[in-house]
Amino acid sequence: MHHFRYVGPSLHCESVDLGAVAQLYGTPTYVYSAGTMADNYRRLAQGLEGLDVQICYAMKANSNIALLRHFANLGAGFDLVSGGEIRRVLAAGADVKRSVFAGVGKTEAEIKLALDNGIFAFHVESEPELARINHVAGKLGVKAPIAIRINPDVDAHTHAKITTGKSDNKFGIPLRNAGAAYEAAAKFPHIQIKGVQMHIGSQLTSVTPFVEAVQKVAPFVADLKARYGITYFSIGGGMGIVYKDALASGPAAWWDAQPVEQRPLTPEVYGAALTPLLKPLGLKILLEHGRFMVGNAGVLLSRVEHLKRGAGKNFLVVDAAMNDLVRPAMYEAFHEIVPLHRDTSRHALVADVVGPICESGDCFAKDRPLQEVGEGEYLALMSAGAYGYTMASRYNTRGMAAEVLVHGSTFELINARETFEQMIAGEKIPAFLK
Ligand SMILES: Cc1ncc(COP(=O)(O)O)c(C=O)c1O
Repeated sequence: MHHFRYVGPSLHCESVDLGAVAQLYGTPTYVYSAGTMADNYRRLAQGLEGLDVQICYAMKANSNIALLRHFANLGAGFDLVSGGEIRRVLAAGADVKRSVFAGVGKTEAEIKLALDNGIFAFHVESEPELARINHVAGKLGVKAPIAIRINPDVDAHTHAKITTGKSDNKFGIPLRNAGAAYEAAAKFPHIQIKGVQMHIGSQLTSVTPFVEAVQKVAPFVADLKARYGITYFSIGGGMGIVYKDALASGPAAWWDAQPVEQRPLTPEVYGAALTPLLKPLGLKILLEHGRFMVGNAGVLLSRVEHLKRGAGKNFLVVDAAMNDLVRPAMYEAFHEIVPLHRDTSRHALVADVVGPICESGDCFAKDRPLQEVGEGEYLALMSAGAYGYTMASRYNTRGMAAEVLVHGSTFELINARETFEQMIAGEKIPAFLK
């Protein structure tokens, strides 16, 4: 459910006409709905009602500091993966003390930064990392709070590049070795065992793999509680969102109309399936969802440059490109594309929607039926709030897109479009070439 809908012919985000935003700030521009994010946060928290839940929003999905402040105001901590992300939490005026630090290659400097700012826990991915954290904590004369990431070897049935809980993925410690890893952790003088963690993958559209993973590790988690007095279990993130019927899935009525067996995963179904499995553990439960929190809360606005009629194929050339939103090129991901001005009297068109970058992979959609649109008209790529801006690049010397946050009938620029001068600010011509 989200707050994007047509009001008459004009696509709106909450009460804001997106055509007006495109004209004011230009394109490509990401637009986010604060109301959708707040709804997502509350539904997730309520889905596991009765448990002591801490939501650590996986900020890699979208780390604009305005969004971080919004989630912090709602009560969230953060799942972060770098020193840069720690600094973003601080820049947002939020608290690192409610945040967890994941990732397979934390540097000594990053570990120190996390400890200096009172990180809630490190999510440890390997034995050498444990030794490194112990070393840094020792130098600072503190104990580092940790949880070990278990790899439960459960198939998440998602895209191979976002599957993380299989034994051939680089993440975590296999369940069979995890007991020994905890024994090793207990011997380090500067390590405090605080919890246990797992994360099996992203864009999961069924609750079954989550249930399978929790059932698989629950006995081990109970044993850790008895042995080391752990206080929390993080079950990671990964809840999927609707990409194909993105616009239609705004109102609750759409969800009710879907046959139960085809209904995409909701936080209510997720909570109902997992709460009975988690409750007996008597632990704080951490949730690290990213995509679910922001994915359907964002769109990417783009302007039509040309309709190029090729031999047996139409190409709709738009001003956004794979550097702005890499998901279609990287994961063969589907994003629904809709006009900002809907006109049902127009002809339908079937076209590949492509960006201006010099790669055949710079293609948002193949043979997509669309309303006919001409130069200067605007389109929205739906469900672009997660892994959109954060995975963007400057390829082809295209500056980073602008970002706008909508709240009811107001909106504000939360990130200005990058200028050419900003793009080359760190570059210089060496003396030997002058
Ligand atoms: C450890 C961990 N937690 C949470 C997430 C968030 O995943 P999602 O955005 O699918 O919820 C990720 C994604 O890569 C992750 O690696």
